[in-house]
Amino acid sequence: MKINIISQNTAAKVIIFPLIDNDNLVENLSKIAKHVGLSAENLQQDFKAGLKENLMLYGKHEGLEKVYLLGLGKNPKQADFIKVFRSFFYNSKKKLPKNIGLKLKLAGLEEYAEFIVNGICLANYEVGIYKTEKKIEVDFFSEGGILEIQVAENTLEKVEIAAKIGQEIAETQARIMALVDAPANFKYPQKLAEFAIEAGEKYGFDVKVFDEKQCYELGLHALLSVGKGSTENPVRFIVMEYKGSDEKGKKIGLVGKGVTFDTGGISIKGSASMSYMKSDMGGAGAVLGTIELAAKLKLPIHLIGVIPATENCVDGNALKPSDVISSYSGKTIEVIDTDAEGRLVLADGLAYIKKNYEPDIIVDLATLTGNCIAALGYVAAGLLSNNDELSDKLLNISQLTGEKLWRLPLWDDYKDMMNSDVADIKNLSSMPLAGAITAAKFLEVFIDGHTNWAHLDIAGLAFGDSEFAKMKSGTAYGVRLLTAWLREI
Ligand code: BES
Ligand code: ZN
Ligand code: ZN
Repeated sequence: MKINIISQNTAAKVIIFPLIDNDNLVENLSKIAKHVGLSAENLQQDFKAGLKENLMLYGKHEGLEKVYLLGLGKNPKQADFIKVFRSFFYNSKKKLPKNIGLKLKLAGLEEYAEFIVNGICLANYEVGIYKTEKKIEVDFFSEGGILEIQVAENTLEKVEIAAKIGQEIAETQARIMALVDAPANFKYPQKLAEFAIEAGEKYGFDVKVFDEKQCYELGLHALLSVGKGSTENPVRFIVMEYKGSDEKGKKIGLVGKGVTFDTGGISIKGSASMSYMKSDMGGAGAVLGTIELAAKLKLPIHLIGVIPATENCVDGNALKPSDVISSYSGKTIEVIDTDAEGRLVLADGLAYIKKNYEPDIIVDLATLTGNCIAALGYVAAGLLSNNDELSDKLLNISQLTGEKLWRLPLWDDYKDMMNSDVADIKNLSSMPLAGAITAAKFLEVFIDGHTNWAHLDIAGLAFGDSEFAKMKSGTAYGVRLLTAWLREI
């Protein structure tokens, strides 16, 4: 689909008017009524611009077939624009003509062009790529499709840039959604590595992939321990570096949990929703997407991304509860529960990035605990951090983008719950409570005194229910949040 930003009237026969429920609504509806040749009173009666409300009108004069009014509700935020447009375009896909006009000028919505375009482009993402029945290509989303956005003349240049960014972000988000949605037989550690290598070549960042032998030589024993039960799909340790700034620029380190399938290991999970555990690499997805976008958008920052990638499987060779393992940091870990594997692989990822890159800021993302879902539901990811300034920054961006975060405490009061009798630390708390916090207290040991670290527990957000699939599906949570944060830096 090609996007044209114009200031004159669009020639498209199908036109969309997005409208906010504000003081200008009556006047805006009158203008539309005149344009379409209908009575203003009728229109005001039938359309209140509620969030996701929409109304279709047939055009009365030649050259105008249909007009859609899209409601955005009162005070819409970034996420509302994305939601409304993704939903409308997804649900009307089959009816869309090749050429669509979108009027932002009437209601003065030019400043939201990035999110509107982002939502429209995301509507093209489908989960059913393994179906054998050929899907009908939607003309509008094909190469010949055209979206003409009409804006005020003095905003042409700005909207041009914003629309391009919205489209580029959506492309990467869709790639990450597809990766999260991929089943475990199509997505294993080597596949994550290949994704990184291909993106690095295409968009311009360095990628190093360590295989299991090299991981052993490096001393990534916690990662290797989790991977012991998976002989067919061995571990990979992926290190990416994007240098968009000189040596003086801030160095940001990202670590993403890359468990491509989590059976729980010997501490095996119940079977009921185990299939969802293909999404246990959602943190890795967020990191891959963010680095890809940083490079694509040429952000002036220095970014390092680390992904410890493994399956967590049941096997005669698998890690057993009670095992004491070593780690990259040199600290020993007593494994009480093999299902608490995410913190083990992150321990090595965090210790590695701290030691080898000394980033100014470290952020890790992981689908880490069911307990975080118990605390915050599917609405916000948990934020645990040892730095108030970094926390506030991330919380603000999360409110702005709608990829929500909520802070949980990281007080030392919780620390002793992770003390082990036999090793330096254990991987499961002695009490079945505050699990998201004790997991973060475990991770904290491996950042080795770094004072600017944030851990995002995205267990409830990486994979979720939506109108775009019958089962849960990938959300690419974190990509927009982190990209917005990096754009501010
Ligand atoms: N991958 C899971 C966490 C998870 C749960 C992600 C639900 C997404 C949805 C993690 O590895 C895990 O199994 N955590 C355990 C930890 C427990 C054994 C301490 C959990 O949360 O139950
Ligand atoms: Zn687990
Ligand atoms: Zn897991």
